[in-house]
Amino acid sequence: MSMILTSKFVDRERELNFLREHYHSGKAELIVIYGRRRIGKTYLLRKFLEETNGIYLLAEENETNLEDFSLRLADYFKDPFLKENPIRTWGLSSRI
Ligand SMILES: Nc1ncnc2c1ncn2[C@@H]1O[C@H](COP(=O)(O)OP(=O)(O)OP(=O)(O)O)[C@@H](O)[C@H]1O
Ligand SMILES: [Mg+2]
Repeated sequence: MSMILTSKFVDRERELNFLREHYHSGKAELIVIYGRRRIGKTYLLRKFLEETNGIYLLAEENETNLEDFSLRLADYFKDPFLKENPIRTWGLSSRI
């Protein structure tokens, strides 16, 4: 697991390069970005996802995170079947 500190307000080149490096690492990565409120965490992520054509999903305290993610994927891959049949549970049987 890697971490980024967003304690200073700069133009984020250093943080962006950090994300770029890990994006190209060729393996799965989990990166925790933390910092005080309004420091620019979301802004940084959105900028990075823009250049990598990534998917942004804000997980909330509700039951529909998986379904929301599934719908994002359907849009991203332009998959009408997935759009009509979003994944609602991790269980395989209910998907069929
Ligand atoms: N590098 C930046 N350059 C210019 N504006 C920025 C930058 N980073 C953040 N901002 C602006 O500062 C504000 C707060 O940024 P952002 O929403 O990304 O903060 P956050 O850390 O995600 O906040 P929260 O903890 O509330 O989720 C936004 O209006 C955003 O546009
Ligand atoms: Mg935020």
